[in-house]
Amino acid sequence: MTAEIIDGKAIAKQVREEVAQEASALDANGVTPGLATVLVGDDPASHVYVRSKRKACAEVGIKAWDHDLPASTPQAELVELLDRLNADPQVHGILVQLPLPEHVDEQVVLDRVDPAKDADGFHPYNLGRLLSGEPVVAPATPAGIQELLIRSNVETSGAEVVVVGRSNIVGKPLAALMVQKGPGANATVTVCHTGTRDLEMHTRRADILVAAIGRAKAITGPMIKPGSAVIDVGINRTDDGLVGDVDFEAASEIASAITPVPGGVGPMTIAMLLRNTVKLARRTMGQPG
Ligand code: GUN
Repeated sequence: MTAEIIDGKAIAKQVREEVAQEASALDANGVTPGLATVLVGDDPASHVYVRSKRKACAEVGIKAWDHDLPASTPQAELVELLDRLNADPQVHGILVQLPLPEHVDEQVVLDRVDPAKDADGFHPYNLGRLLSGEPVVAPATPAGIQELLIRSNVETSGAEVVVVGRSNIVGKPLAALMVQKGPGANATVTVCHTGTRDLEMHTRRADILVAAIGRAKAITGPMIKPGSAVIDVGINRTDDGLVGDVDFEAASEIASAITPVPGGVGPMTIAMLLRNTVKLARRTMGQPG
């Protein structure tokens, strides 16, 4: 069997086109959606992500404000900046790129973002709304994975979804999203992590396997159920270039659908961030998200 490739780049392009139309409709009503990005320090991967996000904003008609701060920026200064952005009516979305430098308490910073401007959906209020099944905006990577599944016609209702990795950015919010009653969800979800006793026993049962581990090719062929859909969230820089968390060659002989790296989940994360920003802008006009 050779798996169908789920083309995240093409699907993200569709989403971006929809977002551009919505942004233009808002603009015609006098509201230009605005996203402020806050990047602290010199992490090369973060710089790459943030540059892509800013470029994508320009392409869909979202105004971007770039705040690039040195790694030595005191936490108090970061909090002050967030207070200013919270108060700025032109800013509808705020994104604080993670990870932050070690001397900064990430939770203090994420808590400071006005939940109504939380483009990443990382504020505890928004995570609570997600858990209760009434999300305002959902974290971009999990939302992007759900959108990929919907637009690739992968049945999620009743499916065994196994997520490997319990990060706050991907694993945990994805589990909260997929377990809800509703389209693109209604799944039976298992979250595996470093404490999982027999990982392969779980992954081999997965109709939809999501790898968000952060280790190159950690998911090998024998761990995959024949005919399943495999979603690879990993981006690992190796001597062979960028590779995912899944052994793509082996997996594509076993699965029925698989996302490539690059060109799978990555472009969707950015597209969903743009969609979240426009949604938050629309809400300031009293329109539902
Ligand atoms: N770092 C890695 N992924 C993300 C993301 O989706 N949002 C933010 N803000 N930081 C990240």
